[in-house]
Amino acid sequence: MRTSDQVLIASASVLLLCACLGAQENNRVSKDLALTPPMGWNSWNKFACSVSEDMIRSMADAMVKSGMKDAGYQYVNVDDCWQVSRDVSGNIVADPQRFPHGMKAVGDYIHSLGLKFGVYSDAGSKTCAGRPGGLGHEYQDAIQYAAWGVDYLKYDWCNTTTQDAKASYANMRAALDASGRAIVLSICEWGTAKPWLWGKEVGGNLWRTTGDISDKWAGQAKWPDGSCCSNGMLAILDQQVGLQSYAGPGHWNDPDMLEVGNGGMSDTEYRAHFSLWAILAAPLIAGNDLRNMRSEVRDILTNREVIAVDQDPLGREGERVWRNGDLELWAKPLRDGSRAVVLLNRGSAEQEVTARWEDLGYPDHVSASVHDLWQHKDLGKFNGKFSAQVASHGIVMVMVTP
Ligand code: GLA
Repeated sequence: MRTSDQVLIASASVLLLCACLGAQENNRVSKDLALTPPMGWNSWNKFACSVSEDMIRSMADAMVKSGMKDAGYQYVNVDDCWQVSRDVSGNIVADPQRFPHGMKAVGDYIHSLGLKFGVYSDAGSKTCAGRPGGLGHEYQDAIQYAAWGVDYLKYDWCNTTTQDAKASYANMRAALDASGRAIVLSICEWGTAKPWLWGKEVGGNLWRTTGDISDKWAGQAKWPDGSCCSNGMLAILDQQVGLQSYAGPGHWNDPDMLEVGNGGMSDTEYRAHFSLWAILAAPLIAGNDLRNMRSEVRDILTNREVIAVDQDPLGREGERVWRNGDLELWAKPLRDGSRAVVLLNRGSAEQEVTARWEDLGYPDHVSASVHDLWQHKDLGKFNGKFSAQVASHGIVMVMVTP
């Protein structure tokens, strides 16, 4: 064969491959999922392994009664420990004591409330809590999940030894799609293999960018086995810097689930946590007990103006646009051309923070309206900059509209 023919054949194959991959993406039953960051609740942060059918049902009830459903929360997600074994045919078995009516009954109940149902598994041989993982059972599990009415799968990364992360998650996405049900795929690989570089390509709808969140303002702590790390809220925030361009409709960076209301931070700190997650276009997955929230906690989780920032249809993740010591500015461009802006004070005393238009990408001479998203109040028109006193460990969050 002549070299030119070889080149021709090679380029044709590349084109064909690209066309096939493109077609595969367009044919995915899951292609229109999570066009805005998923909102819901997950059992892990508060309950760890103590999950049960009764608790999950009452949490779904509480999601409706508390007004969270009306505010946009949809998914009710059971994390680790719902599963105990596999039967002789290899089917995954739910804990018969804790889920006596089985997982389909749980899904049916959640759906009857107009909500969606999520479960958890793991790409390796065992989950992080040592329950059976999905390795080698991907297609079998996907069919089972679809039969139960599962809408969302969080897929963890424990006990994966030499597995390739990208290939493992691509395999699970293919299995989920082959089930015929549109299921959100939440990649929980903790950022180790930089899932932001390949998560979208393999059909992941969100991917964890860090190790687990812990219910505290700042700092990192090693796991008991010496590996790194569980992270305070600010430690997670800092690890989002530079990742903003990888997020967009259908595929989001996931800085982990919310700790709002779990008791380890003050309400001021929780307001900061929630506001920053909205700026990050993060999935808003509550992790507290929705059945007995204080009204302050409920008001944070259901602040519709802040939620609207997170859910803005443009789907741009915000970024840190300025910092000076403990003071920072985070800004997110919105579809109407406005910017949502968080003035953050990480320090231990109240301080003034200034948002300059040039840091937000607006010319200095522009006059813009400023609206406070926690006071729900128009603050007036400002030229070139806006300043506010910001409490220690607090934020002021505003919308700036030229
Ligand atoms: C890992 C995940 C957590 C949680 C637990 C469950 O640590 O990162 O979010 O799912 O496993 O065991």
